[in-house]
Amino acid sequence: MRAAVVAGLGAWLPPRVVTNDELTARLDTTDEWIRSRIGVVTRHVVEPGMATSDLSVEAARRALRSAGVPGAGGVILATTTPDRPCPATAPEIASRLGLDGVPAFDIAAVCTGFVYGLGVGAGLITSGIVDSLIVIGGDAYSTILNPQDRTTSVIFGDGAGAVVLRAGSADEPGALGPFDLGSDGELSDLITVPAGGSRQRSSRGIVPHGDKFFQMEGREVFANAVARMSASSRNAIKRQGWVASDVDRVIAHQANTRILDAVSAELEVPRDKFISNITDVGNTSAASIPLALAHGVRSGELQPGHKVLLTAFGGGLTWGATTLTWPTLSLAE
Ligand code: UT7
Repeated sequence: MRAAVVAGLGAWLPPRVVTNDELTARLDTTDEWIRSRIGVVTRHVVEPGMATSDLSVEAARRALRSAGVPGAGGVILATTTPDRPCPATAPEIASRLGLDGVPAFDIAAVCTGFVYGLGVGAGLITSGIVDSLIVIGGDAYSTILNPQDRTTSVIFGDGAGAVVLRAGSADEPGALGPFDLGSDGELSDLITVPAGGSRQRSSRGIVPHGDKFFQMEGREVFANAVARMSASSRNAIKRQGWVASDVDRVIAHQANTRILDAVSAELEVPRDKFISNITDVGNTSAASIPLALAHGVRSGELQPGHKVLLTAFGGGLTWGATTLTWPTLSLAE
């Protein structure tokens, strides 16, 4: 059976590192609070002038080199921070990669975007519309955070990760398994940038200062993240024909170490099977899963043959999960 197969992986972080100490110097917070409540110690951020496309092109180039191919048949970018509200950022990324003429579009599913992107990409490949694709999760959250908001500024970081998907068969390593994807728009206000869209236009009138920035109801989001990622993971594992004890590695959206602890307990998958890089990079939204995959390959925690569960949760609300057996691939720096 035709399937979408992960053939390459790339990651890129902007060079500038922001430490907790740098944040405590300007916000009413402490290193201890950030470490214990979220699990973040450092995060990378873009310098002024650097945009999501810049991060994404670097990650995609590395993914192509990792796959050993010069190009791909399309580009999907999952992002909440496109370079501009219009047009989508993916076509520019495709052109900068030398992929003129390929289908290229953005997906807006906030922190679940990469898993949604894999699902859409898998659909395009299995239906025969394309034979290969680059799926990128790229975000520059520092550009939408309110620098005065201690509840969000300490959590997020910038970065991009990408995979190359190619057509292959469902029984080979790297083949993406069944997907579980979902949403609940009743809770759309829990994670939002209120202004700048067609509801609260930035082109007319005066927009309240805070409404231009990312806002999150942390506690409610926390509870939903645990419940939704756990339920979605269970569905994806079941559809793949696995049970929880079959899973060797979990790459869950790096939202908060305490969320990873809670999902581990809910799923009854031991915490040491969860790969995590949130300490070094923070919550990088759509980039979170591919950056954690790259961390797993680099550290040796993720090995060919491992049965892997991917799961994410984000604004919308949105959530999703899928599975794969990890293929043999190397990272390109
Ligand atoms: O990626 C998309 C999905 N996002 C997530 O999944 C994030 C989910 N939520 C979270 O990770 C957590 O809810 C937060 C990290 C955002 C907050 O942690 P919490 O343990 O839920 O804290 P809280 O909101 O219940 O706040 C506890 C206290 C409050 O003070 P009071 O009301 O108890 O006096 C906050 O004002 O901590 C205070 N607080 C802070 N204190 C020091 C909030 N932010 C900070 C801060 N430094 N940065």
